[in-house]
Amino acid sequence: MCGIVGYLGHREAYPIIIEGLKRLEYRGYDSAGVALFDGTDLKISKTKGKVADLEELSNKTITKTGNVGIGHTRWATHGVPNDVNSHPHVSNSGDLVLIHNGIIENYESLKKELTTRGYTFKSDTDTEVLVNLIEDVKKEEGVKLGKAVQIALNQVIGAYAITVFDKNKPEEVVVAKLGSPLAVGIGEDEFFIASDASPFIEYTKDAIYLEDEEMAILRFHKGIKIRKIKDDSLVDPYIQKLQLNLEEIEKGGYEHFMLKEIHEQPKAIQDTYRGRLLRDQAIIKMAGVEDNMKKFLNANRIIIVACGTSWHAGLVAEYIFEDLARIPVEVEYASEFRYRNPVITENDVLIAISQSGETADTLAAIKLAKSKGAFVFGVCNVVGSSIARETHAGAYTHAGPEIGVASTKAFTTQITVLTLMALRLARAKGTISSSDYRHHLLELEMIPSKVEEALKSDAHIKYIADIYKEATNCLYLGRGYNFPVALEGALKLKEISYIHAEGYPAAEMKHGPIALIDENMPVIVIATKKGHYEKVVSNIQEIKSRKGKIIGIVTEGDEQVKALADHVIEVPETLEPLTPLLTTIPLQLLSYHIAVLLDKNVDQPRNLAKSVTVE
Ligand code: F6R
Repeated sequence: MCGIVGYLGHREAYPIIIEGLKRLEYRGYDSAGVALFDGTDLKISKTKGKVADLEELSNKTITKTGNVGIGHTRWATHGVPNDVNSHPHVSNSGDLVLIHNGIIENYESLKKELTTRGYTFKSDTDTEVLVNLIEDVKKEEGVKLGKAVQIALNQVIGAYAITVFDKNKPEEVVVAKLGSPLAVGIGEDEFFIASDASPFIEYTKDAIYLEDEEMAILRFHKGIKIRKIKDDSLVDPYIQKLQLNLEEIEKGGYEHFMLKEIHEQPKAIQDTYRGRLLRDQAIIKMAGVEDNMKKFLNANRIIIVACGTSWHAGLVAEYIFEDLARIPVEVEYASEFRYRNPVITENDVLIAISQSGETADTLAAIKLAKSKGAFVFGVCNVVGSSIARETHAGAYTHAGPEIGVASTKAFTTQITVLTLMALRLARAKGTISSSDYRHHLLELEMIPSKVEEALKSDAHIKYIADIYKEATNCLYLGRGYNFPVALEGALKLKEISYIHAEGYPAAEMKHGPIALIDENMPVIVIATKKGHYEKVVSNIQEIKSRKGKIIGIVTEGDEQVKALADHVIEVPETLEPLTPLLTTIPLQLLSYHIAVLLDKNVDQPRNLAKSVTVE
């Protein structure tokens, strides 16, 4: 959460920072700010609102020149989103300027201490405390900025990625990381700093991702020095070649990133199984699984931890792992798991699912499981992310950058990876017959073209969205493999349109939610032919007799539900375990169109951020 960008070099810093902040806005968009050193003094512009508001303000208030600068887009933790709480924050002397992503947990006690030493604070933020703590150390100890940052951070409890410089020594910028991501782009005599590499991919493909508890001192003309914050030891910089390109992070003609990402799913799913699903040889090849086959096969159980949409993918995986590979699975919210003293043994396998690879609760759950001796496998989208690095092994989803805050292609590609894993393990265990296995591989290969088919209902879905856009509540029902899809459909609707929605197993309706049904309640029922069809049809009858409005997600050619429902949206037929990959598509489009029709900010819904690096 929060995006940070910085530049030190020979170019004008402002346009790089502003463009970079726009690319990182998915990380938080409560407020934005920039600080530049214009050769004489610091120029700061910051405001509540988005990067566009910052640009407007900067056009009126600052000169926007300078070859060193830092910028920030904020998701508020301490202090409401207003101009004063926006970053950057300046120390009491006016010399040091700092941006921060994360939370300083002991900021109250540090603030008290600094207050007794004469420091004053304008904002309610933990960040202003940190910049003054660094200033205090620098003065008291008579040390350079880098050393002062190191000493100060050793007093801090919490998570951070920070960038700080001293206006009296603007040829040097100090960055540090613990828990929140930070990348440094290395150019010719220039440095780019950012929460992820997207702000600098057109300038350099060389990047260093700092590890936790590392800091770097960047000096114009003098290069980079990386040190461990705890013991001051020097670290050899490991420069990675970036694979990302500019087109991947642009909208490519779509009105919103979310719509682009929904339409990217056929390709994303194909990219996920490419090189892994070798149908001709009837093989699934996943290095992370092969290398650790014994751990999986001897596991007492698999525990899946994740949050939000990734947790829903975990629920789908529970069905498929138990159904095909006959391995017991428990799916846990990472935030609950980490705090409830769970029983974990060396014979457990923990699978952590995360698009961003940065979710704080999931990361903490991994660390807990590792400390108890469990084998930990990661399913992440962002290459080199904290979770990808913290796990013993893993499989990337290869969905490409997901920028819309509401997750779409990450979900379907997570399910694709988990399906491949379940099939591979089922084959190894002999719990699936050879012909069934081949059938699943064949069907999985056909999913991209079937997703294309499902996407063709777009105009019809938009028509339905227009009818129900004023609804204040919605129910989503599904059974079996499609129960998690119902949860995901409801989450998509509430997060981008702010309409209250709940997902339920269809049979649970009778145990409470049925009381809500009247002529104003739209009920979206996933009623595909495979998977308890007749039972779902009975549930539809129950809704109909209470005058609920029924939108059925059905298999192509279905007549029975069509005769009962107010509307149907068809998806192609496939094997039952693969239906979530198709039934999810119309639900994504329905939420998207309702949100657009309601004029909501689809890509940046209120109060949310893409990467939840605070617990
Ligand atoms: C919903 C959504 C969130 C994330 C959740 C976990 O559309 O995007 O619910 O799924 O915050 O994020 P990751 O997968 O990055 O760990």
